[in-house]
Amino acid sequence: VEGAHRADEPRDRGANLSDAAARWSGADYERVAETFAPVHDRIVDGLSLRAGDRVLDVATGTGGVALRAARAGAEVVGVDISADQLSKARAAADAEGIPLELIECDCQEMPLPDESFDAAASAFGLIFAPDHARAGAELARVCKPGARIAVTAWTFDAFSETAERVGRPASPGEDPRLWSGEEHARGSLPAFDLRFETGTWRVQEASADAVWELLATSVPPIKLWLAEQDEATREAAKHAYSEVFPDGVLERQYVLILGTRL
Ligand SMILES: C[S@@+](CC[C@H](N)C(=O)[O-])C[C@H]1O[C@@H](n2cnc3c(N)ncnc32)[C@H](O)[C@@H]1O
Repeated sequence: VEGAHRADEPRDRGANLSDAAARWSGADYERVAETFAPVHDRIVDGLSLRAGDRVLDVATGTGGVALRAARAGAEVVGVDISADQLSKARAAADAEGIPLELIECDCQEMPLPDESFDAAASAFGLIFAPDHARAGAELARVCKPGARIAVTAWTFDAFSETAERVGRPASPGEDPRLWSGEEHARGSLPAFDLRFETGTWRVQEASADAVWELLATSVPPIKLWLAEQDEATREAAKHAYSEVFPDGVLERQYVLILGTRL
């Protein structure tokens, strides 16, 4: 597949891949990933894994879901568009002695065979693919009939609306939050029988400043955008975001899409 290669081989990315990869690199993302632990646990529960299952973690990032699935006895492949993220997943897997196959690629075009996975997951990852129907079709292609999926999506909440207020550009392509709508998700994943649950992601820090520090240093697209702004814009962004978590508690609602490949 053009533009895709194994994470441990020299890189030769196409321009279309490098924009998205850059957007998701160069931050302490692993700190945010730690706060997703309850979501990652819930996703792995939702996959109803059996020992020896082949599991795909789409947009694995630093490997939160992939590592959990591997610890549960699955044979896991993690894909992500960012080599920086994958290098952290690799380091975490090696530190624990967990075998993980990691592939740097766009989840809209994965160098993986048809019908090769018993289960597939994506924690706040697949949703960022620019073309939702294409990403859904690609997920369907690699799943065996009967395969289980578990995918989380952010909703249209106060946090995400703050990005628009401060002028932070949306991710390229379709709005990732659309995935939280049942009709949209069904339209993008027609090859699956779906059901929907909701959840809350909660971060509690000592103060609003501490939450902002976490976001500004550890969420790659926020860190990147802030670095390109002047001081006044950075301060305005901090102020606007801090209104969402004035006491140091940030809560966001998400939708968990569970399904079975038809
Ligand atoms: C919010 S992070 C989630 C990472 C991980 N799933 C987790 O829960 O910690 C989003 C991830 O999606 C990846 N990503 C964004 N667009 C992608 C694409 N088109 N194909 C593959 N990965 C992509 C980013 O590199 C990033 O690691």
